[in-house]
Amino acid sequence: MLSSQDIAKIRKDTPGCSDKLFFNSAGSSLPVREVVDRQINYLQEEALFGGYKTMAKYASEAAEAYVEAAKLLGCEPHQVAFCESATVAYYRVISTMRFEMGDVILTSELDYISNFIVFDQLRRKHNISLAFLKKDVDGSFDLEAVRKQFTELHPKMVAVTHVPTSSGVVQDVIAIGKLCNEFEVLYLVDGCQSVGQLEVDVKAIGCDFLSCTGRKFLRGPRGTGFLYVSDRALTMNLVPISADGDTTIWQSADEFEYGNTAKKFETFERSYSNLLGFGAALKYLNGVGIKNIEAYNTTLGNHLRNGIKSKTEILLMDHGSNLSNIITLYHPNFQLEKVTSQLDEHQIYYSIARKSMAFLDFAQKGVDWAIRLSPHYFNTIEELDEAIDILATMH
Ligand SMILES: Cc1ncc(COP(=O)(O)O)c(C=O)c1O
Repeated sequence: MLSSQDIAKIRKDTPGCSDKLFFNSAGSSLPVREVVDRQINYLQEEALFGGYKTMAKYASEAAEAYVEAAKLLGCEPHQVAFCESATVAYYRVISTMRFEMGDVILTSELDYISNFIVFDQLRRKHNISLAFLKKDVDGSFDLEAVRKQFTELHPKMVAVTHVPTSSGVVQDVIAIGKLCNEFEVLYLVDGCQSVGQLEVDVKAIGCDFLSCTGRKFLRGPRGTGFLYVSDRALTMNLVPISADGDTTIWQSADEFEYGNTAKKFETFERSYSNLLGFGAALKYLNGVGIKNIEAYNTTLGNHLRNGIKSKTEILLMDHGSNLSNIITLYHPNFQLEKVTSQLDEHQIYYSIARKSMAFLDFAQKGVDWAIRLSPHYFNTIEELDEAIDILATMH
């Protein structure tokens, strides 16, 4: 459990958090000082000695980033690939697969827009179709109905976003993973909004792939992300179209050996300052402990939701029995421009979640946009109370 001294230290390590009410970790969070220092120092050295010499000098530090990512996800370092973003990681996974007309991808209505764009392209190019995992009235997966979908649709792949960008609901990726394993279906989880705020154990989920970004709840640099690849997927010889000469051996005129680690999902050319900065962010987060972070985040999320319910007339738009720290708010009297200028005026940092980014979710909720607040473990209860008082004046 994080003590008030721990939080004070974390806040001291986070230069951006003291002069504002920063609740946008689901967008792009605040890094700790040592992450930014690591990036800057590396870049300065790279400028003096060139990219290759500097990369070689810090090879063992770079290797540590894989160890930290693996520690966080409950996997092995060889199962981790670093990428430039979650979207890049995601489409590299999709590019490993041979889709044919009539193939079905089973997904959720709450999946991320980039994932839907990939599916749309597969539909146009390969005539695949999409089906949505069936839900109960309370929004949880209806596992009996989903089992039926597995037997009737024979999905080629199941793809689920763990925590959607537009809603705090935590989708039951473990239950879906059990079915994927039983029916031997490849399973891709988008962990972009869950990793870093919640404990995410890829073995417990039973996924073949999990994609994630660095800048959100992991508090890493922009332009970073990673991908977990299961040993099952690695032994299936699935190769992304982006694999390059760094990890591949050209054996004969038309034979390439692609290797058996997640590194084939990386490319040789990338930002080492970002990689080492991301490694420092992961190390810091592991040092605080994801169980501690999740417990404190639950306290923050409950406090904010309860305060909004009891002290304001604003509607909480997230539905479901298991909610995380993406908190979306709306009131029919809200006018977007007015609301955003009021939030800006009070130095509240937020995002606006829009229907154009989460069409199916927001069409069901009947709104075009919502304010999204996403407190994280450097925030305090006092900050939340300040924000609740401001929100109470805002309709
Ligand atoms: C659930 C989810 N998946 C994927 C992404 C895409 O991440 P990136 O911008 O790193 O590609 C986001 C970004 O907001 C997201 O919220």
